[in-house]
Amino acid sequence: MTTTEQEQLRAKAAAELERARLRSAALTDVLDDDELVRQHSPLMSPLIWDLAHIGNQEELWLVRDVGGLPAVRSDIDELYDAFKHSRSSRPALPLLKPGEARQYVDQVRRKTMDVVDRVPLQGRRLVENAFAFGMLVQHEQQHDETMLITHQTRKSTAVLHAPDPPKAGRAVLPQEVLVPGGPFTMGTSTEPWALDNERPAHQVHVDAFFIDTTPISCGQYQEFMADGGYERAELWSEVGWEHRNKANLRAPLYWRRDGDRWLRDCFGVVGPVRDAEPVVHVSFHEAQAYARWAGKRLPTEAEWEKAARFDPESGRSRRFPWGDENPGPEHANLGQRHLRPAEVGAYPEGASPLGVRQLIGDVWEWVDTDLHGYPGFTAFPYQEYSEVFFGPDYKMLRGGCFGTDAAACRGTFRNWDYPIRRQIFSGFRCARTPGGGELG
Ligand SMILES: [Fe+2]
Repeated sequence: MTTTEQEQLRAKAAAELERARLRSAALTDVLDDDELVRQHSPLMSPLIWDLAHIGNQEELWLVRDVGGLPAVRSDIDELYDAFKHSRSSRPALPLLKPGEARQYVDQVRRKTMDVVDRVPLQGRRLVENAFAFGMLVQHEQQHDETMLITHQTRKSTAVLHAPDPPKAGRAVLPQEVLVPGGPFTMGTSTEPWALDNERPAHQVHVDAFFIDTTPISCGQYQEFMADGGYERAELWSEVGWEHRNKANLRAPLYWRRDGDRWLRDCFGVVGPVRDAEPVVHVSFHEAQAYARWAGKRLPTEAEWEKAARFDPESGRSRRFPWGDENPGPEHANLGQRHLRPAEVGAYPEGASPLGVRQLIGDVWEWVDTDLHGYPGFTAFPYQEYSEVFFGPDYKMLRGGCFGTDAAACRGTFRNWDYPIRRQIFSGFRCARTPGGGELG
């Protein structure tokens, strides 16, 4: 790597770290100390835990490991170790107070910036292509999305505001798109900041399938509800129905009935459910029941990625549905520019070669695949990043949402959660196997 290339990488890492920090500050500076230390939901950490945890991970990886510098606060490592304390137990810990947490993350950041400037970006896999810096940028941005979820769980007045996302055009789109059968390249071996579970690139054969052009809208979802979707056991998997009964599910999270209409609480602003918006805050089980009601199914993870990346003309997989360029505001609803998904059919410039829309941004999409490593997977830089979660407990979510930053969203990026979770910004689209004769 030339000196100029190294300098460009350093500049990119520094700029991305700075961008992530501005967002972390924006999500925490709007609340008073009491709101920062309070637990808004047992599913979420106090916001101030997230902030100091961001700083602590940065200290562990960039200051101590990559930079070889002495510890800033080794006494707090244990408090901010996500594996040591469940989210619900975190408020009871002797956490740094908001003022101390801010001071701590600033102190760590000053050291990190010094490390970015001087550490050689070669000789260790951890630093090649500035990977460690990219990993911590993604870590901070992912926690910022987590903090955004915590904001949605708050029960007091709205503090976050953003303009509405773009509307859908007037073009009438086909309901579904046929993705041809055959092999495609899934995952990546070349994306410099891709995480271990996205690697390596490998060939996967996928039979021909239909996939919905857009995510399922609130209007479509209300048809399922009106047709007894939540009352008909035959639409649900056994475990899904059991959960539906235990949790008394009747509508997406944050919806409530008001006479003959549904209202939705969106970051403290309550308004009528917008029929044209993708449904958000549904669990995997609800998504699966809807798909069965519609005579379809959820796509597998390989189907989703093929729809998002495969270019039938060249036969290669793109970085994103629209091509290889990084996401811009014309491509996808990412980065918390808006606080809700855009209407289904928006973002024509973000369409895949086959015309599938909104695969990136708007809502995370549940797919019917358990978290697993790709053939040839190796844990890097540590097993706790993803390998310890492999198995049937987690379902995959793909594509990012309005609250996901572009730094933590690629065509290959993989997210996962428990199938009952719905405080996350989760929606879905359906797929189906072609019937006899449909392929001509
Ligand atoms: Fe974390």
